[in-house]
Amino acid sequence: MNPADIASWISDAQKAFSAASDLDQLKVARLAHTGDKAPISLASRSLGTLSPEEKASAGKLIGDAKAAIAEALASATDKLEASRDAKVLLEEVVDITLPVQRTHRGGLHPISIIKNEISDFFIEQGYAVEEGPELESGWLNFDALNIPADHPARTMQDTFFIEPVESGVVLRTHTSPVQIRTMLTQEPPIYVICPGRTFRADELDATHSPVFHQVEGLVVDKGITMAHLKGTLDNFARHMFGPDVTTRLRPSFFPFTEPSAEVDIFFNNRWIEWGGCGMVNPKVLATCGIDTDVYSGFAFGMGLERTLMVRHGITDMHDIVEGDLRFTRQFGVGL
Ligand code: PHE
Repeated sequence: MNPADIASWISDAQKAFSAASDLDQLKVARLAHTGDKAPISLASRSLGTLSPEEKASAGKLIGDAKAAIAEALASATDKLEASRDAKVLLEEVVDITLPVQRTHRGGLHPISIIKNEISDFFIEQGYAVEEGPELESGWLNFDALNIPADHPARTMQDTFFIEPVESGVVLRTHTSPVQIRTMLTQEPPIYVICPGRTFRADELDATHSPVFHQVEGLVVDKGITMAHLKGTLDNFARHMFGPDVTTRLRPSFFPFTEPSAEVDIFFNNRWIEWGGCGMVNPKVLATCGIDTDVYSGFAFGMGLERTLMVRHGITDMHDIVEGDLRFTRQFGVGL
């Protein structure tokens, strides 16, 4: 164990460490020059065989050598780690200025949002939601509702008839046939709303669409009066248009209600026609097998497009039917 040997171990280790070009190579060099079988480790272990005098001087030499090797290892490690980090930063660089592909969260159409809003409002009061088919029998769409064969609504201009015309099947022109379906299958008390898609042979323009939506309300119970109808419409109007809205019933005519009325709202400083309503015509109740001595009822029907347009100041029906996201997105996600 002479000092020249020890000095060569140190310089061998220093050379090997600085020759390593990455951390894996450094690990191999570290094991060779500091591991169990490295000359410095073997020398360190053999110290025990020396006499106490020799041990003191050799021990100091070996200790200094180990420190020198450790220092060389540490500086090589620092250098290689720094260059590895620099390389990683370069290789994994993310160009945050690149354009990204955005996917938008889906959302409901404003008509669906308002339909859900109305359904929730009535469900909270104990109403059920009924839906009927869009292809409806002429009997349910017209006759059972006391709309006679010569009624203008039945003419070719208003109604989409399904071929062959003798089949009597039409695209329903309103949601009122769902009233009939409900009364034919359920015993009073009946509290339902029927939202759905309806069809009339109109051109698409600023205020009309051949495909539109209505919500129908129907109540049949003992002692139902027009006061119940008015109160229900008042609450409904306040829910849709805010607490300050006023309603007005204007005498009108529908074959399936008697008496009948138009319901107007005073909103944004003007009277606006909102929908139709009335007491269910006893003829209609009787057609559905309901005892008119015991029961009476009211019904109302509104257009959802119209409700949406009035409430949000939408002036063109095209915006509602065309599906332009710049319009739809203003109503939020509303899921
Ligand atoms: N069905 C009528 C329409 O489409 C609206 C309405 C419903 C009127 C219920 C009175 C009662 O115009």
